[in-house]
Amino acid sequence: MKIIATYNIKGGVGKTANCVNLAYSCAKSGMNTLLWDLDSQGAASFYFNVKSEVRGGTKKLFKTKDIGELVKETNIEHLDLLPADFSYRHMDLYLDSGKKPKKQMNEFLGRFEKDYDVMFLGLSSQLFTGIGKRV
Ligand SMILES: Nc1ncnc2c1ncn2[C@@H]1O[C@H](COP(=O)(O)OP(=O)(O)OP(=O)(O)O)[C@@H](O)[C@H]1O
Ligand SMILES: [Mg+2]
Repeated sequence: MKIIATYNIKGGVGKTANCVNLAYSCAKSGMNTLLWDLDSQGAASFYFNVKSEVRGGTKKLFKTKDIGELVKETNIEHLDLLPADFSYRHMDLYLDSGKKPKKQMNEFLGRFEKDYDVMFLGLSSQLFTGIGKRV
């Protein structure tokens, strides 16, 4: 699984639009695609008419046993969404409060490996500590 992140420290430069369009193109070409909307404002989730909410927020997300519970189907074939949640605005603090933030994030991303060919991380202008070297 390839992991591609769209980010920039500047706001309003097309991060979300790029991410959504690239994910759409991959899905249209037949790749199993997952878009993780990592912006607490939930703009990418809004594009697909998916509610920006993860039950239990960031904390619960990383502890969820069945990742299927987290993923929502979109109306585009081969394109699934891991929605945004307002708690993501503190995700870097949450990860940093643990012992190995990069490891925790990498392990979480790795859980999607067998189901998807490509995963997009739609980031906000805030960079997350845990994105790590896999991306
Ligand atoms: N290639 C483009 N051509 C014209 N308009 C664009 C293009 N890409 C994005 N836009 C428009 O620019 C605005 C900002 O885009 P977008 O929301 O993707 O930026 P962003 O970097 O994700 O912003 P934010 O920092 O708020 O998350 C939107 O109205 C979007 O529709
Ligand atoms: Mg955006």
